[in-house]
Amino acid sequence: MKIVLGPSSIELGRKIAEILGLETVSVAYKKFPDGESYIRFEGEIAGEEVAIIQSTGPPQDTNLIQLLILIDAAKDLGAKSVIAAVPYLAYARQDKRFLPGEAISIQTVGKLLKAAGLDELWTVNVHEEKILEKFSFPAKSVSAIGLLAEYFKSKGFEGAFALAPDEGAAEFAVEAAKILGGEYGWLHKERDLYTGEVKTEEKKLEVYGKDVVIFDDIISTGGTVANAVKILKKQGAKRVFAACVHPLMIGNAKEKILQSGAEGIVGTDSVPSDVTVVSLAPLLAKVLAEKLKG
Ligand code: R5P
Repeated sequence: MKIVLGPSSIELGRKIAEILGLETVSVAYKKFPDGESYIRFEGEIAGEEVAIIQSTGPPQDTNLIQLLILIDAAKDLGAKSVIAAVPYLAYARQDKRFLPGEAISIQTVGKLLKAAGLDELWTVNVHEEKILEKFSFPAKSVSAIGLLAEYFKSKGFEGAFALAPDEGAAEFAVEAAKILGGEYGWLHKERDLYTGEVKTEEKKLEVYGKDVVIFDDIISTGGTVANAVKILKKQGAKRVFAACVHPLMIGNAKEKILQSGAEGIVGTDSVPSDVTVVSLAPLLAKVLAEKLKG
């Protein structure tokens, strides 16, 4: 098997290949003056099983079209099979019709991946796992919450309270608390479907004088986590940190969270950012090793 270093995840791809001792194939890429994407494999892939590592965080549409071109070209150049490891799966949050007439965009993404010739997809903490069942190829999501919790444990946060900033993230708090060994809880959040603004209900949490780590899958505009931090600080929490798998960190998300009282933000390299600290490489290498064993 060869690891294809997708343009959006070159470092991550290299780390995965290094852990597994696999050969890498680099990809030359550029944008034509009109904005179209150009892709060229710089190594031999004919007759090979290939795993393309390519996250689809911002700019989502460019990263997604590069992924589709890579899959189609790999097959066209004779690759035996193509797996895509896509840590952040773009459009996964648009997984239903929230308002009448809306597109279910993740369905379109699934159809495009299939049409390009994808054999198997792995992603990380996809927003809603049920969407993967609708894809017409094997697809699975693995959780990186354990890696984030282990990171905090190694930094002296054993016994810290694990908080989910909304009910959808409750499972992350439960998972993290198993590693941190402290209590856990979650808040209730509502998002305005037209403006995108989030409101979080205040609720009594047993956090007075305690260190708290907030766990979420995505930090986008930072509104969800900032609201949670304010509630925690108001209730007397000691140090508050935010941990997320996919640090999209749009606009002033980082400042918003820090100004609300958080001491730091820790993300993974699912999406390279200035809060990326933890690498997904060991997790994805493990999945790949299991695949190689059959
Ligand atoms: C949505 O439910 C996700 O789990 C995140 O909470 C959300 O995407 C975060 O968005 P933002 O940072 O814009 O509040």
